[in-house]
Amino acid sequence: MAKMWSGRFEKESSKLLDEFNASLMFDKELYKEDIEGSIAHAKMLNKQGILTDEEKNKIIEGLRTIEKEIEEGKFKFDISDEDIHMAIEKRLTQLIGDAGKKLHTARSRNDQVALDFRLYVQKNNKIIIDLLFDLIKTLLDISKKHKNTILPGMTHLQHAQPISFAYHMLAYASMFKRDIERFNSSYERNNYSPLGCAALAGTPHPIDRNFTAKELGFKAPTINCLDTVSDRDFALEILFNIATLMMHISRLAEEMIIWSSYEFKFITISDDYATGSSIMPQKKNPDVPELLRGKTGRAYGNLISLLTVMKGLPLAYNKDMQEDKEGVFDSVKTAKISIKILNEVLKTMKINEENMYSAAKIGHLTATDLADYLVQKCNIPFREAHFITGRAVALAESKNKDISDLSYEELKSIDNRIKEDVTQYLKLEHSMNARDSFGGTSLNQVEKQIDYFEKWLNGFQRL
Ligand code: ARG
Repeated sequence: MAKMWSGRFEKESSKLLDEFNASLMFDKELYKEDIEGSIAHAKMLNKQGILTDEEKNKIIEGLRTIEKEIEEGKFKFDISDEDIHMAIEKRLTQLIGDAGKKLHTARSRNDQVALDFRLYVQKNNKIIIDLLFDLIKTLLDISKKHKNTILPGMTHLQHAQPISFAYHMLAYASMFKRDIERFNSSYERNNYSPLGCAALAGTPHPIDRNFTAKELGFKAPTINCLDTVSDRDFALEILFNIATLMMHISRLAEEMIIWSSYEFKFITISDDYATGSSIMPQKKNPDVPELLRGKTGRAYGNLISLLTVMKGLPLAYNKDMQEDKEGVFDSVKTAKISIKILNEVLKTMKINEENMYSAAKIGHLTATDLADYLVQKCNIPFREAHFITGRAVALAESKNKDISDLSYEELKSIDNRIKEDVTQYLKLEHSMNARDSFGGTSLNQVEKQIDYFEKWLNGFQRL
C-alpha cells in the first residue's frame, strides 16, 4: 500500500527499507501518549476554527476506538506504516474517513514524536518517584527496628568502627532521596509542551500552543521550535537519573550479596526471593541482588548510547533520533522493576543481629576509643596514647580476645594511669553512641536522621 508521504515518489519502497526504517515495533509503546496528544491537538484545531465540531468529535471518537483496539490486541501493526504516528493516523482515516485526514494540520511528526516521548518520560519520572518513596519508607522501617543493632562499619572493606544497621540503611535513604530530587527537578525543567512546533519553524495556521500545553498538563509551550524538535535532553536526563539510581541500587545489592555469604551471614534473603542451583542441592543464591548489580550495566549503556547518537547532529530533526527510544524504554522498565523487587527483598530479608554483633567484636574496633580515653581522662598526649593502645591491642591478640573484652586489671597492667571506668569506654555500644556529632551514628543522631527523613517524605510536594 502507498505510503502517506508517497506523493513525490514514482516507485514503492522496498521491504528491506521498511524493515530498516520502521520504528513501529518499538514506538507502539507510545500509543497512549500519541492518542492523548492528537486529542488535544484536535480540540485546539476546533477551538481555532480549523476543524468543525463534527470533525473534532469524529476524530476523538475514532482515536478512542483505536486506543481500545490496541489495548484489546485487535490493532493490526504493520511495519509498512513506519511508526506509531502514521499507523494511528491511517487507521483513523479508515475508521472516520476524510475528517481523519485533517488531524495532521499544523503538525509534523517531528513535534508529534517530541511530544509523545516527553509525555512518556514525564509520566515515568512520576512513577519512579512514587516507587522510590516506598523504598525509602522500607529503609526507615528497618532503621526504626535496628537503631541498636551494631555491625562493623567498614572502610576498604576492613573493619573500622562500630555503627548501627539503622545508620547504614539511612545512608541509602540519603542516596535515594537525592535520586527523587533529581527525577523531580528533571520533571520541572522539562515540563513544557512541544506540540505545535511543527516540522522545525512553527506554522502559518492560527494555532494556540498555550491551550494544548494546558490540556496536556504542561506548564507552558516550549519557547523555540527549532530547539524543541531536536532536543532530547529530557530523555538524557531520565537516562542519567536512572543510571545514578542504579549505581546506588547496585552498591546496596553488592552489600547484600556479601552480607548473605557464609563468611558474613549478616542477612538471610527470604526463600521467595532467592534461587537454587541446578546441580548443587545445598545452594541458595542471591540472584536478585546480583541481577540488580548486573542490570546497572545496561542503564549505563543506554545513557552513553543516546549521548553518542545526539552528538554532532545538525539542527533540527534527523532520523538518527529515532534511536532515542529503545534505550529509554529499557532503562525505565529496568528501573521500575529493580526498585520494586529491591523493596520486596529488603522487606522480607532476615537481619541476623547476633552475627553482625560478633563480627563487630573482631578487629579491635574500639581501639581508637581507648586512645581517646587516655587523652581525655588521663591527660596523656595523643602520640603516647596511640602507643599504649597499640600495646593493649597486642595484649588482646596474645589472649585471643578483642580489645573490648580486656578487663580493667589487664589494661592497668599496661599503664597504671588507666582508671576503672575504662572498660565501659571500650564497649561497642559506648563507642557507637559516643559518635554523637551531627550526622553521626549515635542513637541520638540516628533518631534525628529518621525524623528528618520522615518529615521530608511527609512534606514533599508529590507531582
Ligand atoms: N519515527 C520517527 C522517530 O521516532 C518519527 C519522526 C519522524 N520524522 C521525520 N521527519 N521523518 O523519530
